[in-house]
Amino acid sequence: MNLCLAGVLDADTLQAVRTTLAGADFADGSRTAGWHAAKVKHNLQATDDGAAQRVQQALMAHELFRAAALPARLRAPLFSRYTTGMGYGRHMDDALMTAGGGASALRADLAVTVFLSEPASYDGGELVIEGPGGTSAYKLEAGQAIVYPATTLHRVADVTRGERLAAVLWVQSLVRDAARREVLFDLDTARRGLWDKAGQTATSEFDLVTKTYANLLRAWSEP
Ligand code: NI
Repeated sequence: MNLCLAGVLDADTLQAVRTTLAGADFADGSRTAGWHAAKVKHNLQATDDGAAQRVQQALMAHELFRAAALPARLRAPLFSRYTTGMGYGRHMDDALMTAGGGASALRADLAVTVFLSEPASYDGGELVIEGPGGTSAYKLEAGQAIVYPATTLHRVADVTRGERLAAVLWVQSLVRDAARREVLFDLDTARRGLWDKAGQTATSEFDLVTKTYANLLRAWSEP
């Protein structure tokens, strides 16, 4: 399931991240790709602790992100910049990633791209994801994000005008299996709907769905 998230970064946070990145040191992005992906990765990349923290905090505060991803750990975001002529060919992200600071490797269950440039300011640069139902291309508003299974082949189309700035990061989920995550997300969405329909009170249906949600999460989640 590919899920678009609106309002991840508010205008102030977006501006702060952009200002920070304007002074950041961007280097050849192929250095941080796996040996196979490096061949097709043509972009510039930077890290910045302050900007990374803002993006991580905003994501963790986003209710829909938490419900869909059930995040256990986030990898610190990398900031990528694609100028005219740059792109990232079809590739697979690494399954296990170093998390830094001596922490154990992070298992990348989900990938997240937070768009930082206004879509009208550049041409091309779509994130293209291959799924069981076909191929989908995404080019979202600045401050919006897409979360998608890291189990998919994907690419970033060549930028043909302007500059595409984005934050990319990976999530280790409490629930490793995508199908199980989707069941939990559906149940969670259904019980929220029941709650609202009943005037924000617990009905017997709400209680049963909540019980099922909690018990499946208990059965399927990993530490
Ligand atoms: Ni990738």
